[in-house]
Amino acid sequence: MQQIQLTENIFYVGVNDRRTDLFENHMELPNGVSYNSYLIVDEKVALIDPVEAGFIEEYLFKVKSVLQGRQVDYLIINHDEPDHSSSIAAVMREWPEVQVVGNAKTFPPLEAFYGPIENKKVVAEGETLSLGSHTLQFFMVPMVHWPESMVSYEQSSGIVFSNDAFGGFGALNGGIFDDQVNLAFYEDDMRRYYANIVGKVAMQALKAIEKLGGLDIKMIAPSHGLVWRSNLAWVLGKYTQWSKQESEEGVVIVYGSMHGNTGVMADIVARGAAEAGIKELKVYDIAKTEVSFIMSDIWKYKGVIIGACAHYGGMFPNMTLLTHEINEFKPKDKVYGLFGGMSWSGGGVKTLAKYAEEGKWNLVADSVEVKGAPIREEDRDKLYNLGKTVAEAVKG
Ligand code: FEO
Repeated sequence: MQQIQLTENIFYVGVNDRRTDLFENHMELPNGVSYNSYLIVDEKVALIDPVEAGFIEEYLFKVKSVLQGRQVDYLIINHDEPDHSSSIAAVMREWPEVQVVGNAKTFPPLEAFYGPIENKKVVAEGETLSLGSHTLQFFMVPMVHWPESMVSYEQSSGIVFSNDAFGGFGALNGGIFDDQVNLAFYEDDMRRYYANIVGKVAMQALKAIEKLGGLDIKMIAPSHGLVWRSNLAWVLGKYTQWSKQESEEGVVIVYGSMHGNTGVMADIVARGAAEAGIKELKVYDIAKTEVSFIMSDIWKYKGVIIGACAHYGGMFPNMTLLTHEINEFKPKDKVYGLFGGMSWSGGGVKTLAKYAEEGKWNLVADSVEVKGAPIREEDRDKLYNLGKTVAEAVKG
């Protein structure tokens, strides 16, 4: 089998997952995901971040194909989350002498997941590990994505093994490196990954970028998605933009509707926004689109207009997860508007308003609540103006 080389002695040994429906059991994976792992072959052999345990046979085959009978000396754990770490028991069974390398925060959770690890090495900020002609240096990037997260920088090649940072959804369809694919295809999956996984800790991500800025980086090798070697400025620019939460001109309209009336309202709101000059308009039915896709667009665009019909005095139930996620992730630089339908005594708009108050949403227009269907001219005007007002705030 042809090996995938980052350099003469650094190999890609990751796997593609196109069979898992939901990442972390709640985010859809229409394009799959990759679990990247890397192997440095020198006087000592280091394996950097293993893969999800369900792919262990394919993974071990790839690693052993490169090693041709040699042993793995070090298993570097940059991040404990099981999408990477769940195969460590199998790796330790395969190479019983392997030393597991992590920082002081790595091992308590790791041993809580998988039991005691006898042969371990604890490294500190800036510490180095010589493999021969290669030297790994470790830098802590707490909360990108968990408290113990770190990156490993290989000094001779300038490769940073960044784990979740700079990762993205999407299996690697033949192209492993950024210059082997159409980047536009991967950008949406990268931003969805960022918004739903790293977005909550955007400030820490920014600090991590600044910390790495002091290194001479020639390649970024994350644990999901593409390996970056020709478009470093592009990916660093995107990550910086998303971390600083610099919104683009556009409006996301999300509605929850039991019988379609709130959906009709969403179209009127969208028309108002379009007539005010917004070209990037996304309209989502919350019952049809999984929340991670919507969060990704909310991260991208400045305007957010949410509509919900009433449901037993509250709001359309599927909307609860989105409003929870908005208040959990707290996207910045947004302007909001609310609308919805009522049948008896309302509840949709009232419940949205509670989330807005709790999350300190910047509401820039009067909320619109429509009794029944939007068949009255007055209601239709209010909905149109809601879209127009939010659009003007986006443009202003
Ligand atoms: Fe890919 Fe936070 O694990």
